[in-house]
Amino acid sequence: MAPKKQKIQKVQFVETVLRDANQSLIATRLPYDKFEPILATMDKAGFYAVECWGGATFDVCLRYLNEDPWERLRKIRKSMPNTKLQMLLRGQNVLGYAHYPDDFVRKFVQKSVENGIDIIRIFDALNDTQNLKVAMEAAVKAGAMASGTISYTTSPVHTLNKYVEIVRELKEMGASSICIKDMAGIMGPKEAYDLVSAIKDAVDLPIDIHTHSTTGLAFMTYLKAVEAGADIIDTAISPFSGGTSQPATETLVYALGQLGYATDLDEKVLKQIADFFKPIRDGFVSDGTLMPKSMATDTQCLTYQVPGGMLSNLLSQLKMMNALDRFDEALLETPKVRKDLGYPPLVTPTSQMVGVQAVRNVIDGARYKTVSKEIKAYCRGEYGRTPAPIDPAIQKQILGDTAPLTGRYADTLEPIFEKTKKELTGIARCDEDVLSYIAFPQLAEKFFEARKAREENEATYTIEAI
Ligand code: CO
Repeated sequence: MAPKKQKIQKVQFVETVLRDANQSLIATRLPYDKFEPILATMDKAGFYAVECWGGATFDVCLRYLNEDPWERLRKIRKSMPNTKLQMLLRGQNVLGYAHYPDDFVRKFVQKSVENGIDIIRIFDALNDTQNLKVAMEAAVKAGAMASGTISYTTSPVHTLNKYVEIVRELKEMGASSICIKDMAGIMGPKEAYDLVSAIKDAVDLPIDIHTHSTTGLAFMTYLKAVEAGADIIDTAISPFSGGTSQPATETLVYALGQLGYATDLDEKVLKQIADFFKPIRDGFVSDGTLMPKSMATDTQCLTYQVPGGMLSNLLSQLKMMNALDRFDEALLETPKVRKDLGYPPLVTPTSQMVGVQAVRNVIDGARYKTVSKEIKAYCRGEYGRTPAPIDPAIQKQILGDTAPLTGRYADTLEPIFEKTKKELTGIARCDEDVLSYIAFPQLAEKFFEARKAREENEATYTIEAI
């Protein structure tokens, strides 16, 4: 009797070098011209998708690189016609930190898809699905794949059941895949196995797992997630892997291949990509942009359940206040503040808010004597529904007579797009310009002026050349 044919499990890869690896290791400073020559090669590797846009790329293009982020996207699209392009979007915050009106969220999503995006990974810092709904619907309407995302964290209220409940809602909203996003790299292999298994049991959607190598757990976490049935993993080509970035693409292709998984990636092409990025990485090391501490393994976050970035923020705040000797107290205060505030996942912007408050409480010698306007807005409900209720006594102390919101904050915001478009007559050339302006007004204005000056220079140059 012939042996029974076993179905080979396939694992697909999202390459992050252009977005998350770029953002995590070198503060998103990779200009388009530097990676342009490798795009055609990357298009042949066999990636499930290349994450190349959104997150901090938009802000940094305008702020530091004098690039039009929309033009960058169109150029990548043209050079990679065969690969799905993915972006990261912070739900109702889009690419910023403030909550935007729904018309802006819809228009931004629609234009992202028109300019070349195939997959939009949509997340919210609090996992409040009300903050994901409009962006999810807009992505589906524009014909993109909406990757419904959970921001991973641990707390007494973040149970498997809670996560499964969120995933079911994301499916209702039209998610074509589910992403488990572990921004701090704190998810262990057992947690990954249990969570992927629970989600697989609950919904029939591909699962993408996203982590960072920060604590050194990532390779084990991916392996156990794959064993539990995860379909897609996020990795970075080796020169831009490790530390605060993702684990290396080639290493996982090698190991998973050895274990009998199919990966669909061409290892020769991966080597060409790695050879291309090696000298680029070295350049960022020599000019100090890539710091050794970004490449190190940091297990402190496992002990304190506080993401690595937050620890360094605590240290620099205390240093500025000349109070470095209070570090241990501030560290102990951090999880207490998080508990008071209903266990928000510690991701931007809640990580900064919680960290600053913990330092304040320690320095003032009285809890919540001073609070930032962000914490006040958070307690009012402007950031969305918190995972657990905020401690009522503390909420009262912070809000005073201000009433907490009862509905969704974005419902209180007036539409902004058409109004701004009118105001920008003669300044904005297209709807994309208007979107850039609404997202980052000062940066966009500066960029529009620089663009005009550059074009005038080029025009003069052309005439002289004739
Ligand atoms: Co990430």
